[in-house]
Amino acid sequence: MSQRILISGAASGLGLALARRYADAGWRVFLTDVDAAALEQAVTALDAGDRVRSQILDVRSADDWAAARDACVAAWGGLDVLVNNAGVATGGSFARTPIEDWDWIIDINLKGVIRGAATFVPLFTEQGHGHVVNVASLAGLVNPPLMASYNVVKAAVVSLSETLRFELEPAGITTSVVCPSFFRTGLASSFRTPDPAVRQLMDRLVTASDIPAERVAATIQQQIAAERFLILTDRDGRVAYAVKRFLPPLFNAMVRRRGKRLLDRVAAANAAAASAE
Ligand SMILES: NC(=O)c1ccc[n+]([C@@H]2O[C@H](COP(=O)([O-])OP(=O)(O)OC[C@H]3O[C@@H](n4cnc5c(N)ncnc54)[C@H](O)[C@@H]3O)[C@@H](O)[C@H]2O)c1
Repeated sequence: MSQRILISGAASGLGLALARRYADAGWRVFLTDVDAAALEQAVTALDAGDRVRSQILDVRSADDWAAARDACVAAWGGLDVLVNNAGVATGGSFARTPIEDWDWIIDINLKGVIRGAATFVPLFTEQGHGHVVNVASLAGLVNPPLMASYNVVKAAVVSLSETLRFELEPAGITTSVVCPSFFRTGLASSFRTPDPAVRQLMDRLVTASDIPAERVAATIQQQIAAERFLILTDRDGRVAYAVKRFLPPLFNAMVRRRGKRLLDRVAAANAAAASAE
């Protein structure tokens, strides 16, 4: 029988691109998302017959996760790969970010991943195999300014993944963490920020990126097959992470220089908005 994968946040962007690749490769694919209408459209677009299942799953709900696991067991007798992909985005100056934005992104981008892993690890342990794939971000490795809440949750996903890697290996369970830099998806539509200038930047970096989600998904699929732990999907990310590890003074100077330009731009935009009020 073909292999089985469940993807959270599979109705758009990277999740949908991954679902398409695995469906095309003959896998059984379980698409889940909080957005029911988009999920239905995604399943129709995949057109992969009964190899594709779908279920509404809000990653904030432990009950939704349990229902998805039960559905996998009932329909397929288990699962081979879990992709914790669902996510939203936040950004802006630390001092202006409301605590509600922190709560929101922690609940989805961090606790959503924790709930997914906590639901499926017992099943994988029982099976004696399984692969947990957590989608973090390059932001979780290099921590650029004006993205504190996003950086923190993604860094925590990297930390969780590294912990699970060594804790679960003896049970036959593999872990990977995916750290892409910006690529083109609908992520900007969920973006919360107190700074209009940061929203414009997000639009430029994500919505107008020339890297398609399909290219990122292709790299991830290859690296999952190779059971690679840290999946850096693009050259910019590999370079940035290598410079941080091996040439820290150069890395600090780069972040400081680019960060200053950004901080000046955001401060000017905020001052202009304040004087227009
Ligand atoms: N696009 C980028 O530049 C980029 C870079 C690095 C990492 N990422 C990460 O990639 C992952 C996928 O994002 P994307 O860029 O494809 O964005 P996207 O907005 O296109 O897709 C995210 C999906 O997650 C779903 N979602 C949101 N909240 C949810 C919830 N509570 N429960 C279940 N599903 C929910 C959305 O409905 C959407 O279908 C995210 O974890 C994101 O942080 C994206």
